[in-house]
Amino acid sequence: MSDRNETTGEGRTGAIVLAAGQGTRMRASGPKVLQPLLGKPLIEHVLDAIAAAGVDGPAVVVVPADDDRVAHALQDRPGVRVAVQPQPDGTGGAALAGLRALEATGLPPRVLVACGDAPLIRPETFAALIERHEQAAAAATVLTAEVPDPSGYGRIVRSGDGERVARIVEDREARPGERGIHEINSGTFVFDTEGLADLLEQLPVQPYKGERYLTDVVQRLVAARKTVAAFRAEQWQEVLGVNTIEQLADAGAILRKRIVYGLMRSGVQIPAPELVWIEVDVEVAPGARIEPFSVLRRGARVGADAVVGPFAHLGPGAQLAARAEVGNFVEVKRSTIGEGAKAKHLAYIGDAQIGPRANVGAGTVFCNYDGKDKHRSVVGEGAFVGSGSLLVAPCELAPGARTGAGAVVTRGSRVESGETWVGVPARPLDPRR
Ligand code: UD1
Ligand code: CA
Repeated sequence: MSDRNETTGEGRTGAIVLAAGQGTRMRASGPKVLQPLLGKPLIEHVLDAIAAAGVDGPAVVVVPADDDRVAHALQDRPGVRVAVQPQPDGTGGAALAGLRALEATGLPPRVLVACGDAPLIRPETFAALIERHEQAAAAATVLTAEVPDPSGYGRIVRSGDGERVARIVEDREARPGERGIHEINSGTFVFDTEGLADLLEQLPVQPYKGERYLTDVVQRLVAARKTVAAFRAEQWQEVLGVNTIEQLADAGAILRKRIVYGLMRSGVQIPAPELVWIEVDVEVAPGARIEPFSVLRRGARVGADAVVGPFAHLGPGAQLAARAEVGNFVEVKRSTIGEGAKAKHLAYIGDAQIGPRANVGAGTVFCNYDGKDKHRSVVGEGAFVGSGSLLVAPCELAPGARTGAGAVVTRGSRVESGETWVGVPARPLDPRR
């Protein structure tokens, strides 16, 4: 939009992500929103989805006053500012703290308020919510879902015509009739920002939790004859909030399925989709096959027609080129495996560069850690690492070099092309023998 005024934020939508709750139901020592979900903290799932939705205004994350771990975790994230909620006085207080931070740089006309503990909402859902808000010319629009088990969530009480929202009632405060409502509040809203700070300031403290509820803004807007619209998420699972360890696992199962089926749709073979663990930001090229019981951690890369597993573990920084094969009980970490190279059984490949068509025998260990530092090793193109070799890093096998079974290649060694080293410590085999 060309008429957008960047200084006042006109035409833009800001974002506030609530992340100052104590997360007591999680019973964890650290902040709930930093709990990892398939390799990425909850809060980052939310921020990434908001960014991918094209929310164009500034983003603020609301953090608690007595714990700087969330602020610390986000300090290197561009485009995200942190606002401190002075007291833990509920979602209403948190939204107000976020709004004040947005005011400091020019309040955008609309704001998306999301929860740092709802990591499954997809970018297209955030975008559709904002669109609905604009179409409905509403003062507030809430993202809802029809869920099989609404317990613990705020319920959406619709007004007479069923089109609009009359109020949101928390589980604890719901009357028996209201408890039966299956349409729940996801905790995500779009608000017009005009007058919102005043409303938030006037929110009463609700006796049960001793908190100010953001949800109470709804009935106040309605009382002021403003429209509160709702947008129902297509997939109810998207809005699941993570309050407990069980819910964290449930959210992981949903996201894992999303990732695995997404890969299959792109042409990756995963014959037992429920038996693989694939985290976020894993890239697998079409034609690759992921066999059962394989674990692919965040950031792993697998090339076309490569084979992973069964029972393989690709850690951070594992990169398999096309047609590489990594089989049973092989762990790969911060290493590249060249085109067509193989490590099919029982190996640890850490901090290594394996050349194309090299073969890493069963039981090989790259001894990358000397107790203090990690070191890198190189195995050249077409090299052959005999079964049970220990390669003490840093060391190198030149292209076509070989080690015999059980060789211990000591640190700083280089096995030249055409040589075969054997024994402990490994020495070149005498070519005359
Ligand atoms: C909230 C909603 C409920 C909705 C549910 C969706 C309220 C009163 N209730 O309940 O209607 O169905 O989310 O998952 O809003 N937070 C702060 N500061 C606080 C308290 C909370 O920043 O003082 C943050 C939390 O970190 C969390 C979010 O707000 O990310 C929601 O708080 P939580 O306590 O989990 O609310 P619920 O009880 O789940
Ligand atoms: Ca919650």
